[in-house]
Amino acid sequence: MHTVSVGGIDIPALGFGTWQITGRTCADMVATALQAGYRHIDTAAIYENETEVGQGLKAGGVDRDAIFVTTKVWRDFLAPDQLEKAAEQSLKRLKLDHVDLLLIHWPNADVPLKGSIEALNRVRERGLTRAIGVANFPSALFDEAQGLSLAPLVTNQVEYHPYLSQQRVLQAARRHGSSVTAYSPLARGKIFGDPVLESIAKAHGVNVGQVALRWLVQQPQVIAIPKTVTPARARSNLDIFGFQLTDDEMDRIFALTRAGDRLVSPAWGPAWDKDEG
Ligand SMILES: NC(=O)c1ccc[n+]([C@@H]2O[C@H](COP(=O)([O-])OP(=O)(O)OC[C@H]3O[C@@H](n4cnc5c(N)ncnc54)[C@H](OP(=O)(O)O)[C@@H]3O)[C@@H](O)[C@H]2O)c1
Repeated sequence: MHTVSVGGIDIPALGFGTWQITGRTCADMVATALQAGYRHIDTAAIYENETEVGQGLKAGGVDRDAIFVTTKVWRDFLAPDQLEKAAEQSLKRLKLDHVDLLLIHWPNADVPLKGSIEALNRVRERGLTRAIGVANFPSALFDEAQGLSLAPLVTNQVEYHPYLSQQRVLQAARRHGSSVTAYSPLARGKIFGDPVLESIAKAHGVNVGQVALRWLVQQPQVIAIPKTVTPARARSNLDIFGFQLTDDEMDRIFALTRAGDRLVSPAWGPAWDKDEG
């Protein structure tokens, strides 16, 4: 598997998402994912599965140092002391002494960004995380956050799939030598049945999910974190490094962007970049 290198950190380009996977299934799926070859696991305090993710990390039988673990601080806890406490509590649940990446899960306009970013840096300085970053930050806010941070913000985790353009967010990330982590990379299943993706899949003897994931990780500085509770799908989603899309195929997928196909847009979320469908 290839990695994306940012700020001295190597992030496996294909990770395993765990949102809505809870309880025993979560522990089992994390272990299954590790045994299938995943080396990057994505969780968050708000997913209420950090305990089970921690159990899966142990059960998977892979060296801790070989695994890249991301968790996130929820937007209600962005005040500096609360953010540090939230990070400590996540580690306790995960039964880890550090994570590899700690993200601010969503921006919160009611909390000054400077204090949150400083607290995020302190968590890193304390060794509780190897790297820091954000999620759901529009490009201008990402610029601002990078300007406030001593350590590089190594990723902006945002919704990104063939139906949603993220050109401005990508440009902002690349301007700072950072990365974009694509969440909901399969558009939560909406891409299956797409005729363009199906024709490209047929040409390579792969499936539509593999084409979408390959399209993402074939872009510079892009990481993808698909979720599944189905072991065979977990294996299939990881099996995307044995073929390459042509420039023309990449462009045909870029052209699939459709206005109004953003799946995750809570009322309390930020104002998104204007060019994004
Ligand atoms: N930072 C944020 O605010 C944020 C927001 C949303 C998500 N995320 C992260 O991103 C991860 C992925 O996003 P997501 O869960 O929203 O959506 P997703 O990965 O795009 O889609 C998951 C859906 O696709 C299905 N699926 C997976 N692989 C498949 C395959 N090979 N063939 C057919 N169907 C397949 C899954 O079904 P089954 O599970 O039934 O197999 C599930 O219904 C999350 O788990 C989470 O870690 C972050």
